[in-house]
Amino acid sequence: MKAAYIEQTGVPEVIQVGDLPTPVPSGQEVLVRIGAASVNPIDTYIRGGVIGMASQFPYIPGCDLAGTVEAVGPGVQRFKAGDRVWGSNQSLFGRQGTYAEFAAVDEAWLYPTPRGQSDESAAAGALVGITAQLGLFLHAGLAPGDWVYVNGGSGGVGSAVIQFAAAAGAHVIASAGSEFNREYCRSLGAEVVLDYRSGTIDDEIREAAAGNKGVDLWWETQREPDFDRIVGHLKRRGRIVLMAGRAARPEFPVGPFYVNDLRMFGFAMFNASPDEQRAAAERMNAEFELGRWAPRIGCRFALEETGAAHRLQEDNTLGGKRTLSGKIVILPSGS
Ligand SMILES: NC(=O)c1ccc[n+]([C@@H]2O[C@H](COP(=O)([O-])OP(=O)(O)OC[C@H]3O[C@@H](n4cnc5c(N)ncnc54)[C@H](OP(=O)(O)O)[C@@H]3O)[C@@H](O)[C@H]2O)c1
Repeated sequence: MKAAYIEQTGVPEVIQVGDLPTPVPSGQEVLVRIGAASVNPIDTYIRGGVIGMASQFPYIPGCDLAGTVEAVGPGVQRFKAGDRVWGSNQSLFGRQGTYAEFAAVDEAWLYPTPRGQSDESAAAGALVGITAQLGLFLHAGLAPGDWVYVNGGSGGVGSAVIQFAAAAGAHVIASAGSEFNREYCRSLGAEVVLDYRSGTIDDEIREAAAGNKGVDLWWETQREPDFDRIVGHLKRRGRIVLMAGRAARPEFPVGPFYVNDLRMFGFAMFNASPDEQRAAAERMNAEFELGRWAPRIGCRFALEETGAAHRLQEDNTLGGKRTLSGKIVILPSGS
């Protein structure tokens, strides 16, 4: 099969495209003919060697996939040939990834693709959607009527948080970096959308949440959280969700944090069990069917261009280039 793979970790240009053996599904594995994969920041950290999960070479990066079941291993119970499926969690903990024509995926990490959802859409929303679901509902206990602030609402995770929080009956305030992206956040259901580069954003957040006496839930997408700022906006018993910034060592206002009964939830989606992730995926499928979940695709790359796709993701996630709005999709059969 055609695959994008690396023989060693390094810069995006270490990604090669060539022929590797098509996997044969054994046990509970499902062989998926991949219609679309997508790119997440973690794919670039693993490829770069920052996260040491590329443990066998050639190693195929890529967490997310959507496609059609080609064949199943003898122990598979949930799926049969011809079913449309999507999933995430590949390329992690020694598994091979999804930038290929086929992947053998344990059925525990696969979900049925709703009728009407394209492979591109399902792959684009996989990891970011599961992350948003886990953070909001498994960890931070979102309740209807909560006031949620999403710092970075236009990104992959942030846009999923807006959609699922609004659908659950929360009031959403979000920030984004351009009028184009702010309009996008409004279209997803954010009631107030602010410019994160404006000098008056803190006054605007305070004003937006004044009727609630502050923010109930602050979802931070940035790698360098400013806790003086975050804690200052939270209502008593407010919660913070942290999910980025492995190397960050920011100052922390201990007094205002505990005196206001605040709580903080850090999590990584890949720690969640298959059952926890399946519950998240089933809620995502239900939201899609209700017309309340629509991942945004920013651009499409053919498999041969996977190195360029990683370069674009990295330039934006680490380099702050702001040249990407929406998810990058990789198409194994060409764009
Ligand atoms: N813990 C987990 O399980 C988990 C899961 C997924 C992702 N992550 C991590 O979460 C982070 C975000 O991932 P993603 O895929 O959502 O990234 P993304 O799609 O690149 O989104 C980045 C967001 O940050 C916004 N932004 C840029 N500069 C900002 C600033 N100064 N203040 C506020 N917002 C700013 C961008 O807004 P504009 O584009 O409008 O400028 C965009 O909305 C990454 O570090 C990733 O590694 C963690």
